[in-house]
Amino acid sequence: MANYTLDMEKYCALARQVAAESCVLLKNDNHTLPVRKGNRVSVFGRIALHYYKSGTGSGGLVNVKRAIGILDALEESEDILLNEKLADVYKAWVKEHPFDKGAGWGQEPWSQEEMPLTEELVAEAARESELAIVVIGRTAGEDQDAKAIPGSYLLTEAEEDMLKKVCGAFEKVAVLLNVGNIIDMKWVERYNPSAVMYVWQGGQEGGNGVLDVLNGKVPPCGKLSDTIAGDIEDYPSTKNFGDAKENLYQEDIYVGYRYFETFAKDKVLYPFGYGLSYTSFQIKTMDFKEKEEEIYAKVEVKNTGASAGKEVVQLYVSAPQGALGKPVRELKAYEKTKELEPGEACILKISVSKADMASYDDGGCTGYKSCYVLEAGTYGIYIGADVQSAALAGEFEVKETVIINQLEEAMAPVLEFSRFHPQADGAGYRVDYEAVPLRTISPMDKIVKRRQADIPYSGDQGYQLADVYENRISMETFLAQLSDEDLACIVRGEGMCSPKVTPGTAAAFGGVTDRLKKFGIPVGCCADGPSGIRMDCGTRAFSLPNGTALGCTYNMPLVEELYQMEGMELRKNKIDTLLGPGINIHRNPLNGRNFEYISEDPYLTGTMAAAQIKGMGYAKVTGTIKHYTANNQEFHRHDCNSVVSERALREIYLKGFEIAVKDGGAYSIMTTYGAVNGIWTAGNYDLVTAILRDEWGFDGIVMTDWWAKMNEEGQEPAIQNTGVMVRAQNDLFMVTSDSASNATHDNSMESIAEGKTTRGEYQRCADNICRMLMRSPVMDRFLGKTPEDDLVVIGNEDDADEEVQNIVYHVIEKDTTLDMSKVNTERGNSEIFGIQMKEPGIYGLCVNMRADADAPELSQLSMSVFVDNQLKGTFQINGSDKEWTKQSLDLGFVMGNHYIKLYFSVSGMQLDVLKIEKIGETKMPF
Ligand code: BGC
Repeated sequence: MANYTLDMEKYCALARQVAAESCVLLKNDNHTLPVRKGNRVSVFGRIALHYYKSGTGSGGLVNVKRAIGILDALEESEDILLNEKLADVYKAWVKEHPFDKGAGWGQEPWSQEEMPLTEELVAEAARESELAIVVIGRTAGEDQDAKAIPGSYLLTEAEEDMLKKVCGAFEKVAVLLNVGNIIDMKWVERYNPSAVMYVWQGGQEGGNGVLDVLNGKVPPCGKLSDTIAGDIEDYPSTKNFGDAKENLYQEDIYVGYRYFETFAKDKVLYPFGYGLSYTSFQIKTMDFKEKEEEIYAKVEVKNTGASAGKEVVQLYVSAPQGALGKPVRELKAYEKTKELEPGEACILKISVSKADMASYDDGGCTGYKSCYVLEAGTYGIYIGADVQSAALAGEFEVKETVIINQLEEAMAPVLEFSRFHPQADGAGYRVDYEAVPLRTISPMDKIVKRRQADIPYSGDQGYQLADVYENRISMETFLAQLSDEDLACIVRGEGMCSPKVTPGTAAAFGGVTDRLKKFGIPVGCCADGPSGIRMDCGTRAFSLPNGTALGCTYNMPLVEELYQMEGMELRKNKIDTLLGPGINIHRNPLNGRNFEYISEDPYLTGTMAAAQIKGMGYAKVTGTIKHYTANNQEFHRHDCNSVVSERALREIYLKGFEIAVKDGGAYSIMTTYGAVNGIWTAGNYDLVTAILRDEWGFDGIVMTDWWAKMNEEGQEPAIQNTGVMVRAQNDLFMVTSDSASNATHDNSMESIAEGKTTRGEYQRCADNICRMLMRSPVMDRFLGKTPEDDLVVIGNEDDADEEVQNIVYHVIEKDTTLDMSKVNTERGNSEIFGIQMKEPGIYGLCVNMRADADAPELSQLSMSVFVDNQLKGTFQINGSDKEWTKQSLDLGFVMGNHYIKLYFSVSGMQLDVLKIEKIGETKMPF
C-alpha cells in the first residue's frame, strides 16, 4: 500500500497558487488591473517570451520540459485577448536576437538586449488594445553580485525608452517585473505607468500564476519581503558591500526596515510588508491583552471593497531604546486571512511571547552580558498591513530589565570597528556610532575544555549500523569498530554526480567506501536546491517559485503544502535532503543570490524556512538550510571575511536558522564559503557547536559548501583542513571525487596522528552522519524494508521518459576509447553515459561518424554533445559523407564525475568509436 501519492496536477496547482500569491502589486491607478474579460492586451518586453523561472547557478538548474512564461499563459487565456500581431513582431525579432546564455556555468548576463520600439509600432498597438503589459526581467546568481548599473539593478536605456514610449501612448500600462529580487524603482515616478507589480521568478508554473492575478482569479495578496528605497546608496550596507577581503557590518541590526523606520523613513518608496489588492481592507484590533508571558491581540479584518481578496496582518513590536538601542519596529507575527468576500470579516487571534521581543546584550551595557534581555520600559505593539501603516494596538510595561536567556559569548568579533546606535533627535533618531564589543572568550579554549573522550578502537566485531537502528547495540559500540582511516573516509562526501547515488545530484555521503558499506552504512544523497531538484544528467524535476517569491506570499500553510509535494518528489528520486532552503538575509539588494533567499527580515525568513522543512518532513526527507551564516555577497565569496557584532549575528543573521531548527525541526545545515570574524565558517566551533548544537539543540548534520575552505584562526584557509572542520563539528566535507583514495588530499590522518583533532572528534561527526542516515529513507531502502509501491505518482506521464536510470559509467584514463557502434541514432534519441575522470586535466572528445548508406546526399545530420546537460558543441555531417570522418571538441578542464549526452536531431548517422583524451595538464583548483 502506497504511503505517498505525488499527484502532479495538485503539484502544479499548488505551485501556481504560490506564484500567484507571491505577486506584489505596488500601484494600480484607476483599477488598471484586473484585465477586464474580453479586453485586448499588447505585451511589450522580450522577457515576456523567455520568462525567468529562477536565477542561475546551483539554485536554478532544474531541468524542466517547459516553464510557462507570461506570454505562454496569456496566449492560452480565453478571457484576455492578445495583440497577436505585436507578439509576432517580438517573436521574429527574438529569432534574430537569440537569448544570450553566456559562456559557461553562471555566466548568463543579468539582463538581455531589449527590442527597440518605434513610435509607430507602439501607436498602432495602442489603437488596437485597451491595455499594455510591459515585462521587464532580470536574473542573477552564484559567484557574481548585481551592480548598480543599467542592465543589472538599473534599467537599460532600451528599457527606459520602452517605458517612455508605451506609457506615452497607452492610458493603461501594467509593468510586470520578472526578477529574483528588488531592483531600482525610481522609473515609476519618471514614466508613471498606471500599474506596477513584482511577479518574481515563479518556477515552471510562474506564467500561469501571473495570469491568475492579471485576470483576477487570484486577487493579488503578496507583500514585499524587503524595503524598496529610492537609491542603492540609501541602504546602509551599501557603503561596505562588495569588498574582496573584508566586509564591515556597521549598520549592525539596522538591516532593511529596521534601519529605514528608525532613521530614514523619507527614503522609502515602498515599505516592507506593503502590497495592494484589487479590494480594500480595514484592520481593527478588537482586543489586546497582556498576559504573564505573552501578549494577545484579537484582530478583525474586513473586506471594505467591491471584490474578493486576502489580507496579511502584520504585528510589529517597538521596544524601548534602553541602553542597547532598538529599531522602532520589528516583525514578530504575521497571518494571512482566507479569501474574504466584499463585506465579509474574519477574526485573527495572534499571540506573541514576550521572550521573543528580547534583545541580545553582547557588551554588558544592560548589566547582563551575553543575555537576551527585555529592557525596562514601554513596549508598543503595532498591527497593520505593512510596517509603516501598522497602528498602535496596545502596550505593556516592563518595570525592571528581565533576563530571558543567559547564553555564552560566541562568534564575537576580534577586529575593532564601530556600529550604528540610535541617538534621539527631535521626534525621531539619527545614526550615532558606538564601539562594537569584542571577543573575550577564545573558541579554542572551549574546544580544548569540551573535548569528548575517544571511544577505544575495538576492531571489526561484526556489527552493522542496523544493529544500532534496531536497538541491539549502542552507537558507541558500533563506532568503536571504525578505524581512524574509516573515520577519515566517512567525513568525506563524494560528488558532484557520484555514481553511488541518484544520477546528476550534488553529493553522496555516509557509506562511500567499501569498508564503510561493509559496516552496513548506507549512502545518503543530497541534491540542489532550493528551487527544485537539480539532476545534471538531465532528469526532469519540478521547478518551484524562488525564495523571494515564497517570502512574499506570507502564507506559511500554503508553502508547507507545496513542500509536501517537493518532499515526495525527493523521495521518488531517492534523495534524502534538498540543498535548500537558502535563508541568508537580504542585507543588500545587490547580493547575487538574493533570489534564493527569502527576505531582509529574520522572522519572515525563519518561519518560511520552517514551513518548507516541515512540508518536506511529511515524506520523511528534509532540506539543508544554507548558507550558515552571513553569506551576504557573492564577490570573492571563498575569501571574504564578514566582520559582524555578536548581537547582529544573533538577532539578524542567525535568527532565521534558529527558527528553522527550533520550530521547523531542521536537521541538516550547510556552512558557507567565507569567514565570519576571521574564522571560516566550515571550521567555526562557536557557529556549528556552541550555538547550533549546545544552545539550540540541533541534532543533525552540518556539511560544508562545495569545496569550501577551513582555517586555524589567524592562518590562511585551505580545503584540505578537514581536521579543523571535524574539530568544530562540521561533519562533512563536500565534496571529493573519491573518499577512499583521499582525492582531495585532506589532512585528516595527519591531524589525528598529531593529536590536533582527536579520534573522539571524528567519532562525534561519524555519529551525527550515521544518525542522519538512520532517520532518512535510505536506511530502510538499504535494509530492503521499503515496499516497492511506497510512493505512487499520478499524472504527467509524458515526463517519465526523461528519468535517467541505470547509467553506465566509464573510467577515463589518459586516453579511453568507447565503442558507440550500437548507439541508436534515430531522430530524437539520446545516449547518456557517465565518465569518471582518473585524473584532472584538459580533455578533448572526438568521434568517428558517417552518414548511413541510404541517407539522401543533401541531408544535414547532426549530433549535439552535452556535458552535465550543458551543450558543449554540435557535430555536423552531410548525407554525402559516406566515409568515416573524425570530429573533435574541446571539453575544457575536467575532473570528477560527469555525464555525456549525445543527442540526435535527425536520423541517418552512424557512429564508430568515441575517444576521450587528455590534451593538457592543469593545476587542481586546490
Ligand atoms: C553553492 C551551494 C550549492 C553547492 C552544490 C555551491 O556552489 O554555493 O549552494 O548547494 O554549490 O551545488
